Amino acid sequence: MNSPTDAAPDAGAADNPLDRVLVLEMVRVTEAAAVAASKLIGRGDEKAADAAAVEAMRRAFDTLEMDGTVVIGEGERDEAPMLYIGEKVGGAIGTGPKIDIALDPLEGTTITAKAGPNALAVLAAAEQGNLLNAPDTYMDKLAVGPGYPEGVIDLARSPSENVRAVASAKGVEPSEIIVCVLDRPRHAALIAELRSLGCGVVLIGDGDVAGVIAVTDPDTTIDMYMGSGGAPEGVLAAAALRCVGGQFNGRLIFRNEDEKARARKWGIADADFDRIYLRDDLVKGDCIFAATGVTSGSLLEGVKYTRDGKMTTESVVMRASSGTVRWIKGEHRAR
Ligand code: FBP
Repeated sequence: MNSPTDAAPDAGAADNPLDRVLVLEMVRVTEAAAVAASKLIGRGDEKAADAAAVEAMRRAFDTLEMDGTVVIGEGERDEAPMLYIGEKVGGAIGTGPKIDIALDPLEGTTITAKAGPNALAVLAAAEQGNLLNAPDTYMDKLAVGPGYPEGVIDLARSPSENVRAVASAKGVEPSEIIVCVLDRPRHAALIAELRSLGCGVVLIGDGDVAGVIAVTDPDTTIDMYMGSGGAPEGVLAAAALRCVGGQFNGRLIFRNEDEKARARKWGIADADFDRIYLRDDLVKGDCIFAATGVTSGSLLEGVKYTRDGKMTTESVVMRASSGTVRWIKGEHRAR
């Protein structure tokens, strides 16, 4: 069965570098980014919202006692001033535990600019070498929540075959399966195929990290996630599923030679260009996933300002080795 991770609680505790990082401290980093971005909710300026989140997240990393390296970040060094791939972060560079970080200070820049649902500040952390250095390309994604037999989903099969397999494992008709899909013209054929089976299709405007994680929460009623989105977001979502259970398949999509060259640069072999990556190919070993809501959605409440000069945040932090999921509500002075 698809347990969160096969590592036993506290397995390898003696030499697990994540044990030397305060897991809860990760939330300070996503909180800082979410609070900074929240000041730009509904202001119609995606770039300003992203920049505010990036700057705040960058500063907050300095408070963590670790020797961190950004492996999924804001882009390459020449295109991103901060949190670029390869940047060292943390307050103990050279001395602290060596941790790889995948991050998205603002997952849902358009959502934030338009005050839509499900914008998050998000990061995943793992031991050095344990996160796929996903290039900034698209990825075909397929996910299902926990409790299904391993291999119930398979990107090599058609959407209809996957829906039928999940329906049969769940003991329902395909028409009772609810699938979350990004609302994009490129998904027209997928949506038509799902509707021809009678499935419920939940179309989201943006934010497929939250979309994938929704399959793990029965309250969302979403059974499956399907369709293409950012590859970095795929790794972040896989990290969350590694902590709470659920299956994920991802295949990189290359639109041109330049994207292939970028992938090679980050260590993806040509032989893996068509590979279907499973959850545990994207994230290995122990990992931490942390997110804070910027705007309210299926996973978290967004940042809220109260009349008495305070603001509240909601965050989640999960750890794969223990399967612990902590929901954290914060109350902060607004200025
Ligand atoms: P940004 O925060 O970078 O705008 O990403 C939002 C997002 O919806 C992701 O969640 C998703 O993976 C990707 O964009 C989809 O890309 P596209 O908008 O090109 O379809």
